[in-house]
Amino acid sequence: MKINDTRSLPSYTADGHRYDHMKYRRCGRSGIMLPMISLGLWHNFGHDDSFSNGRMILRTAFDRGITHFDLANNYGPPYGAAEENFGRIFRKDFQVYRDELIISTKAGWDMWPGPYGNLGSRKYLIASLDQSLRRMGLDYVDIFYSHRRDPDTPLEETIGTLHDIVQQGKALYVGISQYSAEDTARAAKILADLGTKLFIHQPRYSMFDRWVEDGLLDELENQGTGAIAFSPLEQGVLTSKYLDGFPEDSRAIRDGRYLQTDQITSEVIEKVKKLNAIAQQRDQTMAQMAIAWLLKDERITSVLVGVSRTEQLLDNIAALDNIRFTVEERKEIESILAN
Ligand SMILES: NC(=O)c1ccc[n+]([C@@H]2O[C@H](COP(=O)([O-])OP(=O)(O)OC[C@H]3O[C@@H](n4cnc5c(N)ncnc54)[C@H](OP(=O)(O)O)[C@@H]3O)[C@@H](O)[C@H]2O)c1
Repeated sequence: MKINDTRSLPSYTADGHRYDHMKYRRCGRSGIMLPMISLGLWHNFGHDDSFSNGRMILRTAFDRGITHFDLANNYGPPYGAAEENFGRIFRKDFQVYRDELIISTKAGWDMWPGPYGNLGSRKYLIASLDQSLRRMGLDYVDIFYSHRRDPDTPLEETIGTLHDIVQQGKALYVGISQYSAEDTARAAKILADLGTKLFIHQPRYSMFDRWVEDGLLDELENQGTGAIAFSPLEQGVLTSKYLDGFPEDSRAIRDGRYLQTDQITSEVIEKVKKLNAIAQQRDQTMAQMAIAWLLKDERITSVLVGVSRTEQLLDNIAALDNIRFTVEERKEIESILAN
């Protein structure tokens, strides 16, 4: 929350038509349907961001049928701030809608100092989830993730802890993020032997980062595990935002922690320009086509976007109007991506 952000908003009642238009896909072989577009709180919900803007983004999302909000222990800045701010917004606006929401959090990256505030030990995962629940003011999360594979902790310890967390009632479902296809198969087996299902995998997946096509999606289909793709817009690069330079209010200029201007080279921009021309022929924005291109594969349960303003969210949701690609379009896109 921005300390000087004193704007207050009128009280909130969710739109009565919120389920009329959003499309949902089943998450693997489970009982849960996820919206085809979900909202992540990695950026734009820290203590330096506008609290009322974040609140409007969450309201807009829910009003359009986005029932899934994704967090992690260290989203901010500072670490923990996104969960704190989400908790405040939740208490003000969403408490009565708790049973309509799928709220996720994660642990696996650095969170607190010392050997127990990072990676994949049982001690870290359990302590971190307890902290997350306190920050958000929740009794349980719907999904808890191991945020990354810890190569030095036995997989049985990390994954066994996920099972225990479900047994304790602190998470209804569990997932893993960025695990290789091979480790995913092992994790699913460990969980299955304990009697818990590997509900979901959260990989990075976009037109520019296609590692999941090399075995992971097949493995997830095999296991009956859902897939939710993060950074589908390459943090904004796969939109029209950087086509004419670096806007002052863009992530690359404002933040620079994870997206640096030197990553957005003239070659990258050339590619996006070519893709954007195809998007225009399809009557879509670049962002919409980048999202649609992932969702054309039915194994992608949901695409997890971040937005800095409500207009971007509305733009992204409209991607669902056309997720089909002609053979010709696919060929053209493949040849742009290959060069
Ligand atoms: N599991 C993991 O390890 C992991 C890692 C990273 C992210 N995630 C999850 O994935 C979520 C999404 O990641 P991300 O924020 O990198 O996703 P992204 O959707 O690739 O990028 C989001 C950024 O793109 C820009 N944008 C979005 N829609 C736009 C539109 N229609 N037109 C123009 N610009 C648009 C905005 O940037 P501006 O700020 O420049 O406006 C926005 O902040 C995160 O919030 C988090 O929940 C998970």
